[in-house]
Amino acid sequence: MRTVAPERAVWPSGTRPSLDGDVAVGGVGLAALAGRFGTPVHVVDEADVRLRCRAFRGAFRHGEVAYAGKAFLCRAMASWVEEEKLSLDVCSAGELAVARASRFPAERILMHGNAKTPEDLGAALSYGGGRIRIVVDAFQEIARLGALADRALRPRMLVRVTPGVDGGTHKSISTGTDDQQFGFSLASGAAAEAVRRALAQRRLDLRGLHCHIGSQITDPAAFEEAARRMVGLLAAIREEHGVTLPQLDLGGGFGVPYEGGERALDPAELASRLNRAVADACALHRLPVPRITIEPGRSIVARAGVTVYRVVSVKHGLAGSLTVAVNGGMSDNPRPSLYGARYTVRMIGRRAPGGERRATVVGRHCEAGDVLVREASLPADLRPGDLLAVPCTGAYHHSMASNYNLVRRPPVVAVRDGRARLLVRRETEEDLLRRDLG
Ligand SMILES: Cc1ncc(COP(=O)(O)O)c(C=O)c1O
Repeated sequence: MRTVAPERAVWPSGTRPSLDGDVAVGGVGLAALAGRFGTPVHVVDEADVRLRCRAFRGAFRHGEVAYAGKAFLCRAMASWVEEEKLSLDVCSAGELAVARASRFPAERILMHGNAKTPEDLGAALSYGGGRIRIVVDAFQEIARLGALADRALRPRMLVRVTPGVDGGTHKSISTGTDDQQFGFSLASGAAAEAVRRALAQRRLDLRGLHCHIGSQITDPAAFEEAARRMVGLLAAIREEHGVTLPQLDLGGGFGVPYEGGERALDPAELASRLNRAVADACALHRLPVPRITIEPGRSIVARAGVTVYRVVSVKHGLAGSLTVAVNGGMSDNPRPSLYGARYTVRMIGRRAPGGERRATVVGRHCEAGDVLVREASLPADLRPGDLLAVPCTGAYHHSMASNYNLVRRPPVVAVRDGRARLLVRRETEEDLLRRDLG
């Protein structure tokens, strides 16, 4: 039996296949890990996360790299990011609570959200003496922050701009075009008006502009175009108000491969193209180069994650199709049903003596759309009890998990140097019933 090397690009960097058919991540065999922690289980390779943090930090040496916590956040993840000298994006009081619990420095936190509630704003302003930067997304928010400010508390803020750039991604994760719910439109003049209102309030400390054109974007040209338009607005602000804003946050959205052969954005190439685009545009407008912030989420943590499931049933269809059902699904990975996201999968834990055949891997939920992997190649003798591992599940999986069908959410286990550590435990039925008051 030949040992098929996992496709490097979609697995954590330290992944090693073994002769017995298993795969080790971070030096830990996934089959043994599944035996110890149960299935489904989300595995995250700490070394891989740190490697990607360092790649971005190294590439954007003079700027700020803020990890977007919405991709995956728990206290350990916040600590790794902090230790690697990244900043942190949060988008709710809940995410901020995790940052607070891991004592993340306030001056390195940004808060996002198109509909921040009073609770979110209150949490942001009360953490670290108002040193968190709040990225404002609506006129009402500027007014609210103005009302909350006083002599002792001068909220730091950025204005989120919609630069009218289409990153060519799925419409559910495209956020840079006009007429969707995020930011102030550049084209309509709303962005300029937001800046006007922010500057008019002395008690608000406007630090810069922000944009985020979408997620899973693989064309650097889209980011360059957004950067040029944003510098144009910085120049217009200086022209109108005589104010040079020092910070330009260009968001995240850097694409990663989910299947072999797909493109990933290389941090070094991205940094050189973005820095050049900003520097050239600034030179054109005779503007000092602002400090650049970027906000990678997926590109830091997606490839560090692997989810292991156990096969529950195998069905042979009339037309020769094979449907493999596992003990998880859209409650731990909603991306296929939300965006038609595609994944690879492989069996682990034993050798498969026969050939492979095409199969569809489905989840356990009461929806025909609960399909995890289409057109999978799996051993012809696959049977209930076998283990399946789906790579590239570190971002927007645990963080988007639900309790649909009152299925308990899986644990998150970190692996590093041959050791496994439980970061987030599996939900219990007690957890599920705790909020149900009868
Ligand atoms: C404002 C903002 N910044 C950063 C990100 C991170 O995007 P990604 O995980 O694709 O890098 C998001 C994701 O939606 C976002 O909304």
